Amino acid sequence: MKQDIARVLIDEKVIEKRLDVMAAQIEREFPEGTLLAIILLKGALVFAADLLRRVERPLEIECLNVSSYHGGTESSGKVDFLDRSFPEVKGRHVLLLDDILDTGRTLHAVAERLREEGAEAVHTCVLLSKDRPRVEEVEADYTGFQIGDEFVVGYGLDYMGRYRNLPHVAVLTPEAIARG
Ligand code: XMP
Repeated sequence: MKQDIARVLIDEKVIEKRLDVMAAQIEREFPEGTLLAIILLKGALVFAADLLRRVERPLEIECLNVSSYHGGTESSGKVDFLDRSFPEVKGRHVLLLDDILDTGRTLHAVAERLREEGAEAVHTCVLLSKDRPRVEEVEADYTGFQIGDEFVVGYGLDYMGRYRNLPHVAVLTPEAIARG
């Protein structure tokens, strides 16, 4: 796996420090009551597990399986909800967690759906935000890091299903991308 990495963009220790700050901010700002965290699978799994363990508040966790990339390095332009059921969100303040904000389609589509399902408010939280024009007008309430417009892997993010277990955020070599 190591030979596939062109460069480490965000080191493990830097991520840890940033999560401490984000968790403290969420604790401080989130309205009273039990927080409902909704994790978008699979990309936000690692990020959410590390972040939510730092949040010292009563908290419930739900997961949603959505897909917009279908394996490659370009968004398909369509957000699919892959679960048969949808979590009960009526009247709840939801903390929606995703790995990365790119075109904005995913966060926009899921936040819309949560509102349609009766969520009182949707607070969005991403590890990474790509510096690029959004297709949908959406910004996250909590952002870990702003990055350039390049394809990244690691810390939950994949390429063709792999590299999610890297402890850092990294850029792949052109060879690794071509190999698939
Ligand atoms: P949108 O375009 O909907 O993108 O804002 C959000 C989803 O697209 C995936 N994504 C990436 N996955 N490296 C990845 O491994 C990337 O650089 C990347 N950019 C977007 C991701 O699943 C995210 O939830």
